[in-house]
Amino acid sequence: MAEERMLITGGQRLEGTVRVSGGKNTAVAIIPAAILSQTPCVIENLPNIEDVHVSVETLEYLGAKVNWDPAEGIMEVDSSSICRTDVPLELSRRMRASSYYIGALLARFGSARVPLPGGCNIGRRPIDQHIKGMRALGAQVELSRGTVIAEAEPLAGGDVFLDMATVGGTINVMLAASRAQGITTIYNAAKEPHIVDLANFLNSMGCRVKGAGTDIIRVRGTQSLAARRPYAVIPDQIETGTLMIAAAATHGDVTVTGCIPTHMEALTAKLLEMGAKVYERDDSIRVKSIGSHRAVSFKTQVYPGFPTDLQQPMSALLCTATGTSTVVENLFESRFLHLAEMERMGARVRVYEQTAIIEGVPQLHGAAVEATDLRAGAALVVAGLMAQGTTEIFNTHFIDRGYENIEAKLSSLGASISRVKE
Ligand code: EPZ
Repeated sequence: MAEERMLITGGQRLEGTVRVSGGKNTAVAIIPAAILSQTPCVIENLPNIEDVHVSVETLEYLGAKVNWDPAEGIMEVDSSSICRTDVPLELSRRMRASSYYIGALLARFGSARVPLPGGCNIGRRPIDQHIKGMRALGAQVELSRGTVIAEAEPLAGGDVFLDMATVGGTINVMLAASRAQGITTIYNAAKEPHIVDLANFLNSMGCRVKGAGTDIIRVRGTQSLAARRPYAVIPDQIETGTLMIAAAATHGDVTVTGCIPTHMEALTAKLLEMGAKVYERDDSIRVKSIGSHRAVSFKTQVYPGFPTDLQQPMSALLCTATGTSTVVENLFESRFLHLAEMERMGARVRVYEQTAIIEGVPQLHGAAVEATDLRAGAALVVAGLMAQGTTEIFNTHFIDRGYENIEAKLSSLGASISRVKE
């Protein structure tokens, strides 16, 4: 396959208005949840990204009828024709969210065989909490030669105490509990916006989920889940944040529309602290930045703390702030690889285990760099937009996993960005 590179000539001020796409991490949870519905489901506002394509391939492999219009972002899923409950390794290794097919298939058919999922290489990503949760609902779950084999007949509600507020674990247990007999209570649940979106989707099908967005979620399972009306997924929190950071990075003036500003509070607070201006309206955020930025420090945390998925683009921005910033990555152990790449562009960084010390430099310069995962790719795009000269980003396929039309969106704001095939 021809190798693709992204070319960015930095130094252009981003200006204008850009619309954010539907959320990746909510889409990859709501698409498997369509398996739970006895009637065809219509899901709207889906982003046209690689992870959604993998989700479509997975549903089709299982036997579901999927009608997906990427241009409109609308998908119709009819799960009544599903005839198998295994996911092949070729699909599961392409996306972390493949693990959600365990919860969804187990809930609907009482069995699932899913190889341990792949996804971004950002550190250890065990699913022991997902498995613990399903066992608490009465499932028999084994790991055999790297494949999770789960059986249950039928699932019964139970108490699930998560050791950490895991996003994936919370989603998987919610999926499994949605058709279980009785009430499941998830303690120490994750509170991310996509957990609330999944709860709303399940409730729209007749399930009774309460407490999503707090750390205790109660799910009263219902055997007869049925989609009744189209459901639109929430806007992408991380794409919104990446565009806000790109605006600040180019000392631009950008309004991101179709977003939910309250999901962005942790980032907004840091951008204000750096000296940028942020104006919020009901469903848009404007970031305007003139002059230099102050260095700031932050730690990644579960929602509503600073999201790990924005740590990479944000730490790229800090490479040109005035002063020294300290960034602590609390969730994943390998999420500073973009900073090593950025040293080729003149960034001054020291990394000690989970802490990066970033000494701001006045100017980065373009270089050939390699994306090592999705958000590392986004961070290198931010770096390229700030740098003097041309930056070449290799491994663009990582960026395509989570950003829809990134070149078109940034070009429409004035960036000089293109893609070439070798
Ligand atoms: C989700 O990953 C997101 N992925 C990630 O987005 C995001 O970085 C992460 O949540 C944190 O917000 C999807 O939603 C598809 P976790 P997930 O379970 O569910 C540990 C992106 O760039 N843990 O909340 O895998 C784990 O090692 C991506 O869009 C266990 O130990 O994250 C980590 O340290 C990448 N055992 C912490 O919990 C478990 O069973 C949080 O992970 C589960 C998790």
